[in-house]
Amino acid sequence: MTKKRMWGGRFEEETDQLVQEFNASINVDKAMALQDIQGSIAHATMLVEQGILPSADVKTIIEGLSSIRSDIEAGKFSWSVELEDVHMNIERELSNRIGAVGGKLHTARSRNDQVATDFRLWLRDKTYELISLIHETRHVFVDLAEANLDVIMPGYTHLQVAQPILFSHHMLAYFEMFSRDEARLTDSLKRLNISPLGAGALAGTGFAIDREKTAELLEFAEPARNSLDAVSDRDFALEFLSSASILMMHLSRLSEELILWSSQEFGFVTLPDSHTTGSSIMPQKKNPDVSELIRGKTGRVYGNLMGLLTVMKGLPLTYNKDMQEDKEGCMDTVETLTVCLKLTMSMLPKMKINKARMYYAAGRAYSNATDLADYLAKKGLPFREAHEIVGKLVALGISQSKDLQDLNLETMQGVSSLIEQDVFEVLKLESVVNVRNSFGGTGLEQVKSQIKFAKGLLAKTYGR
Ligand code: ARG
Repeated sequence: MTKKRMWGGRFEEETDQLVQEFNASINVDKAMALQDIQGSIAHATMLVEQGILPSADVKTIIEGLSSIRSDIEAGKFSWSVELEDVHMNIERELSNRIGAVGGKLHTARSRNDQVATDFRLWLRDKTYELISLIHETRHVFVDLAEANLDVIMPGYTHLQVAQPILFSHHMLAYFEMFSRDEARLTDSLKRLNISPLGAGALAGTGFAIDREKTAELLEFAEPARNSLDAVSDRDFALEFLSSASILMMHLSRLSEELILWSSQEFGFVTLPDSHTTGSSIMPQKKNPDVSELIRGKTGRVYGNLMGLLTVMKGLPLTYNKDMQEDKEGCMDTVETLTVCLKLTMSMLPKMKINKARMYYAAGRAYSNATDLADYLAKKGLPFREAHEIVGKLVALGISQSKDLQDLNLETMQGVSSLIEQDVFEVLKLESVVNVRNSFGGTGLEQVKSQIKFAKGLLAKTYGR
């Protein structure tokens, strides 16, 4: 039985059953099967070009690998835990199919450079997919901004009504956040897209391999410069998980706002039936489960980052088996981000925006107080004094249950003789919004020009 193991030469006793299961990673790393074959084909191609293996052997090897790939793609390949991981499952099957020549594939290669190569190839594919999903999500924010330019809502600080803003402006804030996410992932590709293949177990190899060639065949920018680093580096995975955590935090903040906005107290939006659920006991309920779950799943993504940081923190160079724990969290993160982005982008365009409700809420709570102070400051009063006067008017308003615009002129003039009839125009929500025409502000002109700019950015090509 010991013969079954690909590294079994020096072993006499059989591996303990539980050890075998514990040691195996096949249930996780089989997700990288196609990348494993891609890497092997590049490696074998290089071996023949370098005269390390005869071309007839490599032809047989590549045919064998291709037939295995077809079976994997057709879901007809059976994986075995005894063979530990994706690399040995495929290699053993290759030998089953083509005989002893299959054993030549592993010349000048180790599973250490192999797994690092597969993982980078896999994560590169997934990063491109995620970048395109983020790109689509950014489109959704710009579309929402453009379609709702007439919607005024309260802007908040401390979750207290602060100043009225355009709903479009709020959507464009998310556009900015997701633009940074896309840029972060795109930038991470520079460090991810380096080839560890040919680093061997840790120290390189005595065979005259061509690492530039395999890097080129796999569309990596260049080979890693240090073989020790090549097999022991997982920064690319950590960087991915960091970017993923920030992206998830953005999705979570959006979800939190949707949960608040769709509550009875806010009533700013109505989430679509397709993306909400009911209660098994309370017939009236419509719950924002999707948003809550996105907010909740942020925990597992952060956990995956913390998990891998912790796995790596004490490892001496170079490869350690601890590193086999690197993939599951990344795979879970890719899955989580993918579904969360898809749901966000399908839900947002279907939500109903309750314009009147937002407008009403924006006009309450003295959201135009700053503008009254600015009005007095423009008439020459030092801003601090203006602030004090408006504070008094707010207190007066509170005592009479009136907003500033509902106080009559004489009452206001009783507090400051600088106030004139034109104040009522200044206090209107539309004026309060549109006066904020400073670059990046909420005024209609600014928001329109930001939408134009955003569309220009979106039109730029991205990804592959
Ligand atoms: N399954 C292993 C992993 O994912 C592959 C590399 C194993 N290398 C070794 N020297 N045991 O890390």
